[in-house]
Amino acid sequence: MRASTIREMLRVTQQPDVISFGGGLPAPELFPIDEIATCTREVMDEYGPQALQYSVTSGIPEMREWVARRLDAHLGTSFEPDDVLIVNGSQQGLDLIARIFLDPGDQVVLENPSYLGAIQAFDAYQARYLTVETDEGGVVPESLERVLARAESRPKFVYLVPNFQNPTGRTLAAERREAVVRICERYGVAIVEDDPYGELRFEGDHLRALVSYKTTETILYSGTGSKIMAPGMRVAWLATYDREVREKLVLAKQGADLQSGTLAQYVFARYVGKNEAFEEHVATIVRVYRERRNVMHAALQAHMPAQVHFNRPEGGMFLWATVDGVDTEELLKLSTAQKVVFVPGRSFYPQRDITNGMRLNFSNAGEEKIRQGIERLSDSIRTLLS
Ligand SMILES: Cc1ncc(COP(=O)(O)O)c(C=O)c1O
Repeated sequence: MRASTIREMLRVTQQPDVISFGGGLPAPELFPIDEIATCTREVMDEYGPQALQYSVTSGIPEMREWVARRLDAHLGTSFEPDDVLIVNGSQQGLDLIARIFLDPGDQVVLENPSYLGAIQAFDAYQARYLTVETDEGGVVPESLERVLARAESRPKFVYLVPNFQNPTGRTLAAERREAVVRICERYGVAIVEDDPYGELRFEGDHLRALVSYKTTETILYSGTGSKIMAPGMRVAWLATYDREVREKLVLAKQGADLQSGTLAQYVFARYVGKNEAFEEHVATIVRVYRERRNVMHAALQAHMPAQVHFNRPEGGMFLWATVDGVDTEELLKLSTAQKVVFVPGRSFYPQRDITNGMRLNFSNAGEEKIRQGIERLSDSIRTLLS
């Protein structure tokens, strides 16, 4: 198993004068603290012992009902509450999926680069990786087809983050979505659609989820409350039409932790049940992150030398940059001395073979800090280039 560069870095960012573009942390000042306090009180008054008791493995009915209705409204699916399993963070969902799908040496298909936490989860089950080319429109379907056609044994699943991907902020283009589903269907390979950022869209239209396409292949959709409520609650969900897979996931979860915390689920369900307040809360997050994305992008345009290339994601929490000819792990050493941190790209590549990328988080620091941080980062880059 490899240590997570990100978790290591979080230790450095505890220092107050460090500007961090490193972690994938939501803005803490936007957490709905008063609302969660009120909901907790209400849950205690209304449910009392039930909210503190053991509950069923798949999650409390109120949560599963809400998840099914929200996914149907946003993604064009037709899920029933029984199609939903509440998990302890989507990270647990990834672990459970790996647990039921993977034997040592099995192949998993990943975007290149891909979410580090998924690689970590799959590493624990001794997965091997096939990587698919990606560009600004996400996975390139022709490359996916080539990889599946050439695979020595049938990969167990393709893992994708189609909206505002971690680490690149890229979105799988609308016109590629059905193609990806059909290719996987043709080769008999399941899809894991990890979508923690889909609700954080700053502009443009929401795109159809892969799981909304009718197919004979298994698609597992993973969503989370971490970015629209609070990651500390660890309330997240898996949804799939595949009953057999769902039952295996429930058994795997039983063995792992019996159930997700009952209290957190009740409080979560209570808050999202206050429809207007919750929608307003999500809209505020989107507005603030959009502004921060704008500030970071403008600062990059203003300060970075020509060797730095960067994108402008339409949502999420990350922007991706590359620096021609620079190993960003070297850059990180220099920038840490200047008290700015980011995540070097290498750890996101399953083969760890590309070293010039960096993931810049724009959700956690305020606008002034973002400006200062990018200015300092550009100084470090200029120093390294000279
Ligand atoms: C793509 C992706 N999947 C899963 C997770 C884990 O989220 P959770 O807090 O729901 O475990 C993250 C967190 O950053 C993520 O970026």
